[in-house]
Amino acid sequence: MNWNDRFSNHAERLRASKIRELMKFTSQPGIISFAGGMPDPAVFPESEIQSITGSWSRQEAATAMQYGPTPGYPPLLNTLGELLSSRRAIPMQNREIIITTGAQQALFLASRILINPGDTVLVEEPSFIGGMASFTANGAVLEGVPVRDDGLDLDILEQKLTQSMHAGQRISFLYTIPNFQNPSGITMSLKNRERLYAISREYQLVIIEDDPYGDLYFTGSQNDYKPIAALGDDAPVIYCGSLSKVLCPGFRLGWIAADPRFIEKCILSKQSVDACSPSFTQYLANELLVKKGFNLSLVRTREHYQVKRDRMTAAIQKHFPSVVNCSRPEGGFFIFCRLPNGVSGGKLLAKCIEKNVAFVTGEPFMVDPEEGDRFIRLAYSTADVEQIDTGIEITGAAIKEMIG
Ligand SMILES: Cc1ncc(COP(=O)(O)O)c(C=O)c1O
Repeated sequence: MNWNDRFSNHAERLRASKIRELMKFTSQPGIISFAGGMPDPAVFPESEIQSITGSWSRQEAATAMQYGPTPGYPPLLNTLGELLSSRRAIPMQNREIIITTGAQQALFLASRILINPGDTVLVEEPSFIGGMASFTANGAVLEGVPVRDDGLDLDILEQKLTQSMHAGQRISFLYTIPNFQNPSGITMSLKNRERLYAISREYQLVIIEDDPYGDLYFTGSQNDYKPIAALGDDAPVIYCGSLSKVLCPGFRLGWIAADPRFIEKCILSKQSVDACSPSFTQYLANELLVKKGFNLSLVRTREHYQVKRDRMTAAIQKHFPSVVNCSRPEGGFFIFCRLPNGVSGGKLLAKCIEKNVAFVTGEPFMVDPEEGDRFIRLAYSTADVEQIDTGIEITGAAIKEMIG
């Protein structure tokens, strides 16, 4: 059987993710990995889950193990709605929620609904691999808009919008991760969020705002990381979130909060994908979120990652030559570094892997992969503090060797 003759255009567009490939290698014993950027199992709510499932009545267990409605388990939809309006200040009167199988599925459903093959999708450059993979799998042509220290370059965005209007080009949407962006660790300033909201309203530009790290800030308060969706409800902003980083990714729970007409299409599309997200974890997640202890556990989770961020920043300062330019994230999991001229990220990675340290180079995060070789992404989320010291020292020594 020649399978190549059988694959659809969709299948032909699918590409392996470099990070997934690398993860096979980084899970080997002895490797210090700054590559995957997964949450730390040390903060998973293991004992709470045991005590919740242990206390279920037969009726509760049956609900948790049954199929559920496509939009989501109703009490969890209520809980999320309340959290989004109270914690994230998102006006919910004209928005509905659908629970998805991770934020990844939220991005896929949104792509399915908004992209016609050949449409342009604007993405931050660099951007999240999983998002870009969903957009291209659905036929989009990606165009990058650079990320500066205060987030997306909005002058360039406006230029692109004006040009595309003149050229009659269809832009499906702009994809942005305003808080502690993956991979750059950068946070969009409040001023830029306001301007972006106004641009969205003026140009009727659909924005997909992806905010899985928004609760994991290390400084200031929730108000400093206000979602773009919180700035009003007269611009087409689709807000995506996830429980992966605040509870655990094994739950596979995320959501979209958006205009009811958009959510209705998501429900129809989801019916043909998986019918509903896992009832079991929705039921559990709802109990975890409504329990009094959730706020406290969030504080602990923030502190946990902040210690690692501090340790990695201090190690970088000590061991990296000053010509390496690294972001200083105010939350989330990632530090992104620009290497000095002449130092290739790929060659640096090869050298470090020989010494049992792994990270990811910038290529998979870029629309133009050539640009990516000048960058590396260092995730501090899973390594312990001693590993952070050792791994950064080894990486720093390799950079110095390459500079000569
Ligand atoms: C920016 C961003 N969006 C979405 C996701 C997907 O998260 P989930 O586990 O909810 O599918 C990730 C996971 O790494 C991410 O970094």
